Amino acid sequence: MPNKIEHVALAVADLDAAIAHYREVWGIEVTHRETIEDQGVEEAMLPLGDTFLQLIAPANDETTVGRFLASRGEGLHHLAYEVDDLPRTLEDLKAKGVRLIDEVPRRGGRGHLVAFVHPKSNHGLLVELIQAPEGK
Ligand code: CO
Repeated sequence: MPNKIEHVALAVADLDAAIAHYREVWGIEVTHRETIEDQGVEEAMLPLGDTFLQLIAPANDETTVGRFLASRGEGLHHLAYEVDDLPRTLEDLKAKGVRLIDEVPRRGGRGHLVAFVHPKSNHGLLVELIQAPEGK
């Protein structure tokens, strides 16, 4: 069972512009910024209470985020549910017939392990399962 919403991810076309918007309009500063090379995505984490807003921007049009922006424009992209044991959670979901985008965990930002659940198996919501690194 998920512990909490670790972050809410918003797809943006221009990461620098979105970061400036959140600083100027909402007064929220970025605490972490990272490019995930194998996904072709750049992400920025903005703390909001005990969760984060995650701004994601594509490194190129061929990425999933690039295709998302091209077809749907900017906006809500996914929710990330924090779990303690990601491999076991994936096994549980698979056993329940849930369609997974990632059958095995992969590396996300901040040293976390992540895996995505297909929105078609989840009433239209793209969910990222995320497990913090050991000791965090
Ligand atoms: Co995310």
